[in-house]
Amino acid sequence: MITGKTSLVGIIGDPVEHSLSPPMHNAAFRHLQMDYVYVPFHVRKENLAIAVVGAKALGMKGLNVTIPHKREVINYLDELDTAAELIGAVNTVKFDEKISKGYNTDGLGAVKAIEEVRSVKDKKIVILGAGGAARAICFQLLLNGAKNVLIANRTLENACQLKEDLLRNFRAEVSCIKLDKKLGEELKDADVLINTTPVGMHPHEHQKPIVSEEMIHQGLLVNDIVYNPLKTGLLTEAERAGAMIINGVKMLIYQGAIAFRIWTGINAPLDVFEKALMSELGY
Ligand code: ATR
Repeated sequence: MITGKTSLVGIIGDPVEHSLSPPMHNAAFRHLQMDYVYVPFHVRKENLAIAVVGAKALGMKGLNVTIPHKREVINYLDELDTAAELIGAVNTVKFDEKISKGYNTDGLGAVKAIEEVRSVKDKKIVILGAGGAARAICFQLLLNGAKNVLIANRTLENACQLKEDLLRNFRAEVSCIKLDKKLGEELKDADVLINTTPVGMHPHEHQKPIVSEEMIHQGLLVNDIVYNPLKTGLLTEAERAGAMIINGVKMLIYQGAIAFRIWTGINAPLDVFEKALMSELGY
């Protein structure tokens, strides 16, 4: 029941109606009998500033921020956490009485999903794609001590731009290549492979995966951030090669769990998050 004491959190984006975050967080609030509600808000670009100021004025505890506002929202916040500042994008805001602070839990969520299985410290990681998700993940990998990050992208220039941005902040081995057959050579001594491109995403699940079975060795940990379908073509190829796989739902769960903790100070029930997501996705 919503009362005068209920705490409000939510998500702003355009579009926002398909967001999986409201059912995920509300399921956790119900499960833990917490007096919170999570509401989606459709906010257009021209209303972003007033929405953020208004959310704080209304006493909201926090927000998730999604496309297309993740970069622009920074202009309307008082403080940024280190990762958000480095990445230049915010997906989570916490409001205190006076201060609004921005965080980025996308990269951290993805890296946490991987580190449940294997630490990235001193490892070689290959990233497919160089968009917003790749950027958040690459910065977090280097924050967590990855030794060597190779960015492979359809447009070489975008991969090399991301490399430059990373090297401006970290002393590490970072390289950029075009996404083509040469990737097979690079994968031979890699520890982790992460796909951040939409290749294989519904309704194009039958698109040929960029990396095929013969390019994957058994010791490679393969993560696809695409969660629809749950087992993408890439993950199917990886399984055939005998490699361990991590599906895209894990990143959603962990990025949400980190935001949940930022707002409430409480650890999210990961199993409740997962169940809500699976049901929402129809699995
Ligand atoms: P996000 O912000 O979610 O990461 P994005 O910024 O649109 O999404 O980035 C998508 C990434 O997937 C880009 O690196 C894009 O490659 P380009 O830099 O060449 O545009 C990559 N991508 C998109 N469609 C692709 C495809 N069909 N094959 C290979 N890479 C693709």
